[in-house]
Amino acid sequence: MEASQYDRSARKGDITPEAYRQVLGRSPTGVTLVTGMDGDEPLAIVIGSFVSVSMDPPLVGFLTGSNARTWPRISGGGSFCVNVLADDQADLANAFFTRDGDPWEGTGWVPALTGSPVIPSCVASIDCSVFDVMEAGDHLFVVGEVVDLRDHETGGSPLVFLGGSYGSFGPGVGSGS
Ligand SMILES: Cc1cc2nc3c(=O)[nH]c(=O)nc-3n(C[C@H](O)[C@H](O)[C@H](O)COP(=O)(O)O)c2cc1C
Repeated sequence: MEASQYDRSARKGDITPEAYRQVLGRSPTGVTLVTGMDGDEPLAIVIGSFVSVSMDPPLVGFLTGSNARTWPRISGGGSFCVNVLADDQADLANAFFTRDGDPWEGTGWVPALTGSPVIPSCVASIDCSVFDVMEAGDHLFVVGEVVDLRDHETGGSPLVFLGGSYGSFGPGVGSGS
């Protein structure tokens, strides 16, 4: 990897894995299925680090472990689709996480423009071509250029992950602007 332009010698506290997990576990994420194809085989990874990156050009991103097995198989196709899970889809997240049986069964998935699987019962799908992949510690930061996107208008609310548990979004404490 190229030498960083940033000074990494700044004073550092004692960041133990336990403290990292506990403190970062205080910050909620959404839950998505990042899907793609390896030949005829549909693949998916449960991803909480999905983030919108840029409007112009339209970019989104997520992090995957450097040693993870699924991403290299998806990236070979040069595209992926982010499916935002609804708060009644925790079982679907678990099915894909544990890969016990065939998690695709009953999902009714259809190919997006790039060919990556769209799960129509999800809240939204964002279809992407791979724009860039950057090394970030023990993860890769994958940036995708959005080529198609869909609000499935199911009326569902997104699934939330916090401190190891799934939950729902509860509105009513003010509005963003
Ligand atoms: C709610 C939830 C969120 C997750 N978010 C991420 C994530 O953002 N990045 C990541 O690398 N793994 C994440 N994981 C773990 C991955 O789903 C997966 O188990 C791991 O990357 C191993 O992938 P592999 O089977 O392809 O090797 C998450 C798991 C769960 C249950």
